[in-house]
Amino acid sequence: MTNSLEVIKNQVISCTKCELCKSRKNAVPGKGSKNAKLVFIGEAPGRSEDKLGEPFVGSAGKRLTEALEEAGLSRDSVYITNVVKCRPPNNRVPTQKERDACRDYLEQELALIKPKIICVMGNTAYGSLLDGKDITKNRGKFLEKDGRLYFITIHPAATIYNQELVSILKEDIKKLRDKLE
Ligand code: URA
Ligand code: SF4
Repeated sequence: MTNSLEVIKNQVISCTKCELCKSRKNAVPGKGSKNAKLVFIGEAPGRSEDKLGEPFVGSAGKRLTEALEEAGLSRDSVYITNVVKCRPPNNRVPTQKERDACRDYLEQELALIKPKIICVMGNTAYGSLLDGKDITKNRGKFLEKDGRLYFITIHPAATIYNQELVSILKEDIKKLRDKLE
């Protein structure tokens, strides 16, 4: 049986499967439409997400929202989630153990939504889902694996420190939108 988004959400907010549960303020379940054709996967909640319990609501989220809107996509029409659902202390990269502990929630989200395309954003998601390494070399590409179609792009936070990446993210999201049509 596949659980509803509500059930998955309730599992996540009460989860104690890894150490990150001890330092979080709020666990951050994925958010969006269960009918989404696109699922976006980031790394882990940051400070704002931890505070509010929602994914991509801080400065990286602002960049993602802008890129989506410029491509004519609303946040409500897609689904946005992370490799791990709780904030790692000081925003460190989640460990393999933490990613493994949290993996079932991501699998449940994907099994329920069955998106046309799964967009991995940044090295953590790329590494966790596709065993990939060098995001800058591979971004902008589609890849099929185990019957799922993936798209690889940069993490929206990268655009905060490097202005040149703003247009790269926007172009990638438009490419993704075009593939849906
Ligand atoms: N960065 C992420 O990877 N995910 C969020 O939800 C926010 C910032
Ligand atoms: Fe559970 Fe995932 Fe949070 Fe770890 S990161 S406590 S596995 S929800």
